[in-house]
Amino acid sequence: MPPSAVHDCSFPSTPGKVKMERSNYFGRVASRWQSFGPGKIVFWCVALLALLVVAVFFYATSPGVHNSFEQSLSLREAKNDVVSWGGSVWEKHVRHSAHAKRENGLVVLVTGAAGFVGTHVSLALKKRGDGVIGLDNFNSYYDPFLKRARQGLLEKQGVFVVEGDINNIALLRKLFDVITFTHVMHLAAQAGVRYAMENPGSYVHSNIAGFVNLLEACKEASPQPAIVWASSSSVYGLNSKVPFSEIDRTDQPASLYAATKKAGEEIAHTYNHIYGLSITGLRFFTVYGPWGRPDMAYFFFTKAILQGKPVNIYQGPNQVDLARDFTYIDDIVKGCFGALDTATPSTGTGGKKRGPAQLRVYNLGNTSPVTVPTLVAILEKHLKVKAKRNVVRMPRNGDVPFTHANVTLARVELGYNPTTDLQTGLKKFVKWYQLYYGGGSSSSSSSSSSKRRLRP
Ligand SMILES: NC(=O)c1ccc[n+]([C@@H]2O[C@H](COP(=O)([O-])OP(=O)(O)OC[C@H]3O[C@@H](n4cnc5c(N)ncnc54)[C@H](O)[C@@H]3O)[C@@H](O)[C@H]2O)c1
Repeated sequence: MPPSAVHDCSFPSTPGKVKMERSNYFGRVASRWQSFGPGKIVFWCVALLALLVVAVFFYATSPGVHNSFEQSLSLREAKNDVVSWGGSVWEKHVRHSAHAKRENGLVVLVTGAAGFVGTHVSLALKKRGDGVIGLDNFNSYYDPFLKRARQGLLEKQGVFVVEGDINNIALLRKLFDVITFTHVMHLAAQAGVRYAMENPGSYVHSNIAGFVNLLEACKEASPQPAIVWASSSSVYGLNSKVPFSEIDRTDQPASLYAATKKAGEEIAHTYNHIYGLSITGLRFFTVYGPWGRPDMAYFFFTKAILQGKPVNIYQGPNQVDLARDFTYIDDIVKGCFGALDTATPSTGTGGKKRGPAQLRVYNLGNTSPVTVPTLVAILEKHLKVKAKRNVVRMPRNGDVPFTHANVTLARVELGYNPTTDLQTGLKKFVKWYQLYYGGGSSSSSSSSSSKRRLRP
């Protein structure tokens, strides 16, 4: 080892001396560098570059910088119109959308805003003069073009929909930083009973992990918002006592979807108990209407009937027809308003509970179940096309034979009063469907987005 190397390793601890000796060191390095040939220079350049690449990789994947990396990624992608959050323009949109136009108006974060129920609730809140920010990950569980069309409708009415996942804590914190939300209307979820057998992980991701993440962000916020969220009638599972009442058993879920919604109700209890979050769960019963979900029977029956394809009508044990308490979207929106308007504030601050907070669960149904053959008959009448019926035994896929809501509690405490019967509601749905897809037998193929027309 040359004597200079020994000297280099023994830097003294006095800062002044370090500085001085460092300058000597760099002088020596510079003189050596001049004596290098071009081959050595290229070698050292490549080595330095490789080191830089490794350093950037470790920086990007280190958990401590993950959020800011994610953010910069989001901003970069925003330029390509893929994902867009963060930055001053984004914040301006968020603030504008969240501005309440009426006195004492609510300021609501609506998750799942590009979804069926989320779009209707967001539009109605905005119309009332409340401030609204939407959040949706635009996943492809069903036709994302339909979600984009709903987004277009929302943006026309001044509702900004942030593209992102409820599992992204950095994004949620940013939203809570920029806006003081009075309420969160949590509708983002992996919906659908049958798909749980195909992709169980997506239910855990959105309905459990995502819900916990959202509650974490709400608990940290100061002031904490009140939360209203969508549970489901599916929590009644194998319960056979009708009509379903909030005090009935909910410990026999028939599908993973139902189990994740039931888990959500228990998780809500925990966050209410520990952190003082005010939380209201709404058990929706088969919601239908314009801008609805293509994975639901009334929707894909309409498509099949118009295409002249057979519709599978399931029957339960002993050839009993399946029945659902179909609930029109406008009634559900009124129920959501009832829950938001009667929610008392959360009591915690800085992640700590300061007193007991409200914890509620309500059924939101129509109270008059209709069998599936009757649903098909109503669709035939409105579409003026005869359906090809294919009656088959119900497979074991998580569906339950019937649902029927008792809504007494919601009537008394939320002022909930469903008024739309299935005949009237389906007429409005069919009208929308024919306008949106252009009617005719070739409409609404999920792969034929070019045929879709947006005429809300
Ligand atoms: N429609 C019904 O009949 C019905 C019945 C019972 C309960 N519900 C519940 O009501 C809520 C709304 O249902 P819907 O019919 O509007 O469903 P939807 O699928 O149309 O809407 C849900 C939206 O959430 C979004 N989303 C899903 N996971 C997300 C995530 N991790 N991060 C961000 N966004 C995410 C989806 O992209 C979608 O746009 C859901 O919680 C659903 O489980 C609906």
